[in-house]
Amino acid sequence: MRVMGIETSCDETAVAIVEAPAGGGPVGTILANAIYSQLAEHRRFGGVVPEIAARAHLERIDGLIDEALRTAELVLADLDGIAATAGPGLIGGVMVGVMTAKGLAFAQGKPFLAINHLEGHALSVRLAEPVEFPYLLLLVSGGHCQLLTVRGPGAYEQLGTTIDDAVGECFDKTAKLLGLGFPGGPAVERLARQGNPQRFSLPRPMWRKPGCDFSFSGLKTAVRLTIEKLPRDNPQIVADLCASFQQTVGDVLADRCANALRMAPLPTLVVAGGVAANLYLRQRLEVVAAERGARLVAPPQSLCTDNGAMIAWAGIERLRLGRTSSLDFRPRPRWPLSDAA
Ligand code: KG4
Ligand code: ZN
Repeated sequence: MRVMGIETSCDETAVAIVEAPAGGGPVGTILANAIYSQLAEHRRFGGVVPEIAARAHLERIDGLIDEALRTAELVLADLDGIAATAGPGLIGGVMVGVMTAKGLAFAQGKPFLAINHLEGHALSVRLAEPVEFPYLLLLVSGGHCQLLTVRGPGAYEQLGTTIDDAVGECFDKTAKLLGLGFPGGPAVERLARQGNPQRFSLPRPMWRKPGCDFSFSGLKTAVRLTIEKLPRDNPQIVADLCASFQQTVGDVLADRCANALRMAPLPTLVVAGGVAANLYLRQRLEVVAAERGARLVAPPQSLCTDNGAMIAWAGIERLRLGRTSSLDFRPRPRWPLSDAA
């Protein structure tokens, strides 16, 4: 079974082709994984500009589909389905991906699969590792921060979510205030390696509170107030603040995951989404999981940030269950993973 996955919900235009046995089970083979990052187009605005993103997706998508097919040495007729992120995300970009996928599916007489971007992240680990359902999932990205149980494709139960900002956004904001550029996560992680995490004491919202909800706006404000009082041209101070910030985030994520493992004692804790690329945070979560007799599994770093392979993989998991989408599926700017949410 071979499925093409198209991802256009934010600032990466990505097209991948993934192959897996039709019968089921984890682990697929990535035959192609073409990606165009629009970073340069958005950098001078310090964030993603939706209109620029939509136009850039439109300009690049045909070329990336060609490139993916050439890399995989396939033609469209060799595919068993076309999957695209159909939400949540910046709606102009989502429409570009969805309309392209629908067009290809219709022209080729192949199934179309409308994929929830969050489901792409949620199942991405199974593309690379033999992880069985059910598992506990910490989904941490630029727009989301939630804890869920994953019992299968489409079967999610939310244990907690952020009541204000997402953790990736908090990394990006901290980096912006420190003049480290966009996106901020990788830059903060790099500098934190040379910093003293004990230098600044920052608030840990929700830490040791019952439940699994998160809050990051207070931490964001505290970082801003701290930075305003500091000389910014001192590289050691910047590194110390990055290290202190990252450790604080680690404390909060570890505490929330410990509660989640208590509420839903499953053998596997999976961390996914862009922030899961952070190696320090992975280490912290590894410790929490081990303390509760679970193991931490994270997708390879290249599958943590947005990519087409995770969308193709979610498409395979859905196609195996016969859960294809109708061609009148409407893109959804908002689309929670769990029905209850
Ligand atoms: O999943 P993703 O690519 O896009 C969304 O769906 O939001 O996540 C992007 C987020 C950004 O906020 C970025 O700063 C963060 O992931 N990120 C990181 C790291 N790499 C990316 N955060 C912390 N440490 C990293 N190494
Ligand atoms: Zn994402």
